[in-house]
Amino acid sequence: MKIAIIGSGGREHALAYQLTKSKKLIKLYSIPGNAGTAEISKNIDLDPNNFEDLYNFFNKEKIELVIIGPEKPLVKGIVDFLIKKKIKVFGPNKAVAQLEGSKIFTKKICEKYNIPTAKFKICNTKEKAFEFLSSSTFPLVIKADVLAAGKGVYICKEIDDAKNAVTEIFDGKFGKTEQLLIEEFLEGDEMSFFIISDGISYKTFNTAQDHKRVGEGDTGKNTGGMGAYSPSSLINKDLEDKILKKIIEPTLKAIKEMNEKYVGFLYAGLMIKNNEPFLIEYNVRMGDPECQTILPLVDSDLVEIIDSCCNSSLKKQDIKWKTKKSMCIALCSKGYPEKYNKNIEINNLNEFKSTGNNFVFHAGTKKDGDKILAVGGRVINFVNISNNFLSSREEIIRRIEKLNWKDGFYRSDIGHKVINE
Ligand code: AMP
Ligand code: GLY
Repeated sequence: MKIAIIGSGGREHALAYQLTKSKKLIKLYSIPGNAGTAEISKNIDLDPNNFEDLYNFFNKEKIELVIIGPEKPLVKGIVDFLIKKKIKVFGPNKAVAQLEGSKIFTKKICEKYNIPTAKFKICNTKEKAFEFLSSSTFPLVIKADVLAAGKGVYICKEIDDAKNAVTEIFDGKFGKTEQLLIEEFLEGDEMSFFIISDGISYKTFNTAQDHKRVGEGDTGKNTGGMGAYSPSSLINKDLEDKILKKIIEPTLKAIKEMNEKYVGFLYAGLMIKNNEPFLIEYNVRMGDPECQTILPLVDSDLVEIIDSCCNSSLKKQDIKWKTKKSMCIALCSKGYPEKYNKNIEINNLNEFKSTGNNFVFHAGTKKDGDKILAVGGRVINFVNISNNFLSSREEIIRRIEKLNWKDGFYRSDIGHKVINE
């Protein structure tokens, strides 16, 4: 099969790597890809949001399956566009991608189908938001109703923080916004829960825990994710049943009742309190870095799994899992998530490849002749699978220290909640 992956992050390198393990794969393209995907597929420098150019390329190369990694093209309707052009594509269409594209869309489904989530209020003017805040108790959470790469969420301890958030959102910090969401602050532990669906049936696709804050001990600014581990220590059979019955299945029912279907990965960001799940948000894709830590645990052919979703035959497809633990630590450019330098060389990175239980997935890297340059905030994901999280962490840190990239930094405490030191 000739396959193309859209995206250029660690998630897409991990997908590409897993696809290359399949005997079904004939040729793989990464659009636009990074220095890591360039080693195992052919990078094509096209814009993931220019659908017409993408289609012309797929048509010319006779691509048989397109896999969409990031949310932006999904929310913009790449799946609808390609299906119309008769290209087989893995990912949800525009109507259901609103699960990620609009937090208010998701909240309305939660309300209608009784899905446990934080209580919320939708406000469409600054004045109405201020009025609501004047009689609210704190902390609470304020969210812009746009795709904001995880940045449109404010946890507010007091009214002044909340007023500032409302002002920033309505002043257009995340683009034009007509409404925002004020939410009850949920306490508990977070978990990333994944399913994969063909529009008719679904299968669970493991769990993970990511570390979003930049600093040790989960402190400092929010990032795209500094590391993750899988499975989450919170998951158990009883909790999984509750997540499926109270959250996932009612959501899929809502989609069916809209006369739509969900094809792709669905990622539920959950808060767990006393073994009860609450939905924080949906993402209509794999997580990053959750994908990097989960995929090395898959013990079945990923081409077959994804293709079965596009052919409505997932039910017959077996998904086997290794019973190991997995961890991912992201090596980032100094300064991330704020200002950092670009085009900095990383020496000796070629010596670090995926072998045995170690995996190396590039994110913000670019090839420049023989050199590899760092061009993004999150640069390389180091993953290890083993029988326990501590030994995975030790092995990853040993490798990062060996690489010894002076312009990078990483969190050495990934998994601190599940590792007793
Ligand atoms: P979101 O983009 O909606 O996932 O929010 C980003 C992060 O903000 C989440 O991963 C949580 O850590 C936090 N968060 C969002 N909503 C809530 C909430 N209602 N209560 C507590 N924390 C929240
Ligand atoms: N790890 C968070 C995300 O992918 O949105």
